[in-house]
Amino acid sequence: MNILSLLKKRFYPVLAELVSDPDVLLEMIRPSQDPKFGDYQVNCAMPLGKQLGKPPREVAEEIVAQLQITDLCEDPEIAGPGFINLRIKNTWIVEQLMKSGADKRLGIVRVDTPRKFVIDFSSPNVAKPMHVGHIRSTVIGDALTRSLRFLGHEVISDNHLGDWGTQFGMIIYGFKHFAIKSDYERQPVDELSRLYKLVNQLIEYHQAKAGLADREDHILQLEQRLNEFSKAMEEAGRQKDKKAKKDRRSLESQLADAREKAALAKSIVMTVESDQALATLAAKHAEIGSAVLSETAKLHSGDEENRQLWHEFLPHCRADMQRIYDRLGVVFNVEHGESFYHEQLESVVTSLVTRGLARESEGAICMFLEGFKAPFIIRKKDGAFLYATTDLATIQFRMLEWEPDAILYVVDHRQSEHFDKLFFGARQWGHNQVELTHISFGTVLGEDGKPFKTRSGAAVGLESLLDEAVNKALSVVSENDERKPNGPELKIEERQRIAAVVGHAAIKYADLSHNRTSDYVFSYDKMMALEGNTATYMQYSYARVQSIFARGHIDVDALRTAGTPLEIAHAAERALALELLRFSEALQEVATDYRPNHLTNYLFELAKKYSVFFEHCPVLKADGPQQRQSRLRLCDLTARTIQLGLELLGIDVVDRM
Ligand code: ARG
Repeated sequence: MNILSLLKKRFYPVLAELVSDPDVLLEMIRPSQDPKFGDYQVNCAMPLGKQLGKPPREVAEEIVAQLQITDLCEDPEIAGPGFINLRIKNTWIVEQLMKSGADKRLGIVRVDTPRKFVIDFSSPNVAKPMHVGHIRSTVIGDALTRSLRFLGHEVISDNHLGDWGTQFGMIIYGFKHFAIKSDYERQPVDELSRLYKLVNQLIEYHQAKAGLADREDHILQLEQRLNEFSKAMEEAGRQKDKKAKKDRRSLESQLADAREKAALAKSIVMTVESDQALATLAAKHAEIGSAVLSETAKLHSGDEENRQLWHEFLPHCRADMQRIYDRLGVVFNVEHGESFYHEQLESVVTSLVTRGLARESEGAICMFLEGFKAPFIIRKKDGAFLYATTDLATIQFRMLEWEPDAILYVVDHRQSEHFDKLFFGARQWGHNQVELTHISFGTVLGEDGKPFKTRSGAAVGLESLLDEAVNKALSVVSENDERKPNGPELKIEERQRIAAVVGHAAIKYADLSHNRTSDYVFSYDKMMALEGNTATYMQYSYARVQSIFARGHIDVDALRTAGTPLEIAHAAERALALELLRFSEALQEVATDYRPNHLTNYLFELAKKYSVFFEHCPVLKADGPQQRQSRLRLCDLTARTIQLGLELLGIDVVDRM
């Protein structure tokens, strides 16, 4: 049951009498921001008045006169210039809540027309350590998978692993030249990851070193331009005018940027040169950059030794990732990595060329797409295929294999140009029926506002990040337990079990509760606050209900089946009851623009309404058994809604905290 859609259904025939396309007007039915104006507010009489050349109030009156809504709402109220304020009837709220209470799905109906989705998410590059950015894709993708499925859609979740790229060339090169065999035998993934880092460091060293002189030049040029600019402005007496200030700031920021990059390059160079062993390695492997590319090319062209190494490394890397997925409770339907498509790349290029959609340019094969400056390169001069080629092959495969209605890619915003081009190219290629959407998300920042890093400067590894969250959660849970009025209740093992749930939840929820397109600041303290829009608060609200049940020795099954009617006498009861009925609206929003934060916002609103209710409406000490029973049921419905809502976000609850 979805109140908003129900209201729209009732308004539709009335508006259809007045205009040919009522859909835009239906969008003007919204939940009221202030209960003074009822529960829902309808603002369409104003634009309609203009359109029909009538006073909006008159239009509002006409609409209200035609509206069939008495079962659902009190008499509509027309306010101000022509707002229609709707107040849902208490009897109706009670009736609906009784129904959802008796339903495992809490009254959320499945969509009439299910769609088939492929959701491409997580998709880390194997052999490179996973980092905090991958968690966002994993967590958002998982929440979307769960929510869309719950609504009745079919979802194929696909982990498009980066298991065929240059990083394999890197570890193959590393393995051939720098591996410590005994370490590899003992801890293969640790050794491979050390090799990856070492090779990466040497490549970066040579690149940084080769670029130093140019960087210095660039800085000098910018300094000179800035000087000249200042002088010219001074001579013209224009130092203070707006445009001059703006240009000056832009030059200054370019200079600051160039200096920062040069400093970074220098520090990369220094780190290697100040270490005797590393410096020797770097000197010995001066051509490492191109050597790695050729190892990758050999892998792709079927070189036996490299293929064999790849087959040997992959399961180790895969197992390492699986530990993270197990901890996060994330399951994929399929895991077709990039390697799965490599046999098809050749034919993708041929198909695009024969259809005249791609052509040779400076030795490479490119798609020149209207509206894009740079071409979409699908084969390099040296014959190598690219990320783009694989993604085109992937679309073709998914369409043939599953015929989905939509493919969603949960990938960070830095790849948006890639996806714009990919979708454009795929449509030209004939895949123009399917919805292709990039579910873009922002960067995870440290408290200094820069991309989240550890103190040593390396991007934070996922596993240590999760461990740290669980540790912090243990202190939160322990402190909370110590503070209990009748003394602590939890044994140490119990605290640990709860901390594992709370810690993982906090990380997931922090990711999900921020509008996905914005960057967000990673802070353990904020994400585990007991007050505010956090998983911890939500889990706490849930546990609070369970503790009432425990204290009152409530038989929950009996409570649910008793059928005692709900009473919504107090304003806080009514507000909570109505909020409970809005769950479906929140889920609908998640499915519309693929933003799980609609659901977290909803849960937060619900928890706040519950908190107000809890403050004003005694439950176990209610006036009489009828009221007590009714309030217990409101508690139960709140807990179940929180539990189901969190479950759709991939988050568990605990009975005690
Ligand atoms: N492996 C890529 C990365 O880590 C993400 C892949 C996303 N999916 C895709 N079909 N391109 O950057």
